[in-house]
Amino acid sequence: MTDYKTLCLQLKGLIEGVPHLTANLANASALLFGAMEDINWAGFYLVENGKLVLGPFQGKPACIEIDIGSGVCGAAASQDRTQLVENVHLFPGHIACDSASNSEIVVPLHANGAVAAVLDIDSPLVGRFTECDRHGLEEFAKILECELSGLFGCALKSGYFAGGCFWCITPFFKMAPGVISVTSGYSGGDEIDPSYEDVKKQRTGHRETIKATYDPQLVSFEKLCDIFLSATDPFDADGQFIDRGRSYTLAVYYQSEQERLAAERKINALEQSSGKKVYVSLEPFKSFYAAGEEHQDYYLKNPDAFDEEMIRSGRKKS
Ligand code: SME
Repeated sequence: MTDYKTLCLQLKGLIEGVPHLTANLANASALLFGAMEDINWAGFYLVENGKLVLGPFQGKPACIEIDIGSGVCGAAASQDRTQLVENVHLFPGHIACDSASNSEIVVPLHANGAVAAVLDIDSPLVGRFTECDRHGLEEFAKILECELSGLFGCALKSGYFAGGCFWCITPFFKMAPGVISVTSGYSGGDEIDPSYEDVKKQRTGHRETIKATYDPQLVSFEKLCDIFLSATDPFDADGQFIDRGRSYTLAVYYQSEQERLAAERKINALEQSSGKKVYVSLEPFKSFYAAGEEHQDYYLKNPDAFDEEMIRSGRKKS
């Protein structure tokens, strides 16, 4: 079993005060490759122009670019969650770089709260990685984040928009170049992990909200605000189209003063140009709970519920 406590101390000793990203990631992958048993690849992919690009590693040559959302690495980046895969051959879309790999663990690394890279480890054994590895490697990743956050060139960001029915506004964001993934969920209430039914019935104070993950080098937060305002009816105070009540009212959950000001500027400009009051609440981001899988990419899974005109106008048939 890997001694993660010692490994983390060794990592700290190696990288503390070293201002070179590549050197530190190279040493980190060498450390893991030397210390972990039964692995055949350990290294990093870094976010660059909306993709994951191969970084320092130990093992056989690997694929150079991975789309965010593809394979195990892409899933870790787009879902911002560690992927512990018992058998890679059962993972939909797994990318086989080394045919010897049978199990894999991928941990996202963050800079300024957004995914900037992933740590990927492969093993020839099925079921090689355990919850203990997940915990140990997440601690290892935290040390890297702490020491390296200022050195990463790019990081993904996420914007949170409540725009009425989350099924309906998802396609507008998905179609925008630079938007990597769109997750349906709930923000703005206090209850932990609310259910779809409770939010729909206005029991929790949450609004249906989408989390749009984007590459800030390709699309700006301002542009996301434009998409949000054109995909909704911003002059409706009590809901959107057939969906009524607070959970369907509009809000931007800002994560910085910069985001708040950007959204405010867009709202003011629209009020000026239309001569009408815009009903978008600007609130500081507190939490976001992803909705169930059946609500993700709903428009793709249920094409009969929408037609093109309805998607354009943000309405659904029922
Ligand atoms: N298997 C990974 C690709 C990277 S290699 O394992 C080094 C994936 O599916 O994302």
